[in-house]
Amino acid sequence: MKSLSEPKTYRIKSFGCQMNVYDGERMAELLGAQGMSAAPEGGDADLVVLNTCHIREKAAEKVYSDIGRIVKDWGRDDGSAPLIAVAGCVAQAEGEEIMARSPDVRMVVGPQAYHRLPGMIEKARHGERVTDTDMPANTKFGVLPDRSTGARTRRAPSAFLTVQEGCDKFCTYCVVPYTRGAEISRPFADLVEEAKRLVDAGAREITLLGQNVNAWDGEDDKGRAVGLDGLIRALAALPDLKRIRYTTSHPNDMSDALIAAHGEVDKLMPYLHLPVQSGSNRVLAAMNRSHSAESYVELIERFRAARPDIAISGDFIVGFPGETDAEFEDTLKMVDTIRYAAAFSFKYSPRPGTPAATMDGQIAKEVMDERLQRLQAALQRDSLAFNQASVGRTCEVLVERKGRKPGQWLGKTPWLQSAWFEAEAAIGDLVQVELLAAGPNSLEARVV
Ligand code: 5AD
Ligand code: SF4
Repeated sequence: MKSLSEPKTYRIKSFGCQMNVYDGERMAELLGAQGMSAAPEGGDADLVVLNTCHIREKAAEKVYSDIGRIVKDWGRDDGSAPLIAVAGCVAQAEGEEIMARSPDVRMVVGPQAYHRLPGMIEKARHGERVTDTDMPANTKFGVLPDRSTGARTRRAPSAFLTVQEGCDKFCTYCVVPYTRGAEISRPFADLVEEAKRLVDAGAREITLLGQNVNAWDGEDDKGRAVGLDGLIRALAALPDLKRIRYTTSHPNDMSDALIAAHGEVDKLMPYLHLPVQSGSNRVLAAMNRSHSAESYVELIERFRAARPDIAISGDFIVGFPGETDAEFEDTLKMVDTIRYAAAFSFKYSPRPGTPAATMDGQIAKEVMDERLQRLQAALQRDSLAFNQASVGRTCEVLVERKGRKPGQWLGKTPWLQSAWFEAEAAIGDLVQVELLAAGPNSLEARVV
């Protein structure tokens, strides 16, 4: 490969969870600080970063077909080629295979190493193929450019802030402990500083992110040990920050103080994403979830006591190895008990290297399909019911974008429902509305 001139444009494609979205933004800021700019929509980019997800099946296959498409669509006939980097969790888990199988990939960079992209790009454009899947905890945050107004690429009113990374839970189906490493918390002062910069750049809502976000802990500005509730209370003191959310939590890291914060901190939105995965205690034990169906229900009851209108969301897996019909029925019973406002449900996908992948009793695809369909029907019934029960409520909507029709705006209610209305408004406004009519995915509203 001949040396390339310095790449001037980049495109970053993020797949999977919100933490990847956050990483993608930080990579964009890093490349921006190097003088690069985002490639125009539909145009060639000198550098393409595929920021991948490994949580469920066919992630790697998707990466290979994406690479093929990028190379095929490359429009320049000067003999050059785009610099392709594979980042994210597939890079961490399968970096060497990717390098061996796909000669078009110049860089493989893991989720804890992307702050070193500029040096990697320099080597790659001189013909080297570079892999960096080191996992130094917290190093990248100290090196990445700060999130000042100029560098922030997306001035959306709702911003993500990664406060915690990694997982020590080792659920038997999950790759995260292997791709994202051990649980670490970012320091309190750094997070308050980053939140201030996001707010200065226009954020009105911040969602605190972590694989186990409620395991976050640190020391506040007075040297006191604090949990996530302490961080939330500190951020709530920023005048121009209007809303705080957090995701994703684990039932076993839930503290009384965080539950209490839902009743006490106005800016903390009435929404909780708390995955349960299954309603069967035998399956939960085989998953190594270390909570029971009963303890989960009891936890939700405590949240509802603290904040009666709280919207509950969850994650489910159907067809875990050995799951019987009766055990699946227990999951449906869980849904009936909790009445989720929203939920994500998946067919079990064996992940190489995880204990569940080699367990006896792998479930046939048709059985999984049928179970998923039944579960999703129940979940959809409940999210529609939740939305319908909101009709007549007056609440604030954070305006996020224009709607399809002129004069129409789309935003989020405190319960994370999409609501649309017609008004004179601007992105980032908090508008007081009455909710008028409900569908399964959105609500119609009018300004009051
Ligand atoms: N198969 C199916 N779903 C999975 N999840 C995690 N690992 C797997 C897997 N191997 C789901 C869980 C988790 C969500 C992020 O993805 O429900 O909460
Ligand atoms: Fe995966 Fe379980 Fe950790 Fe969640 S808690 S990231 S499902 S191992």
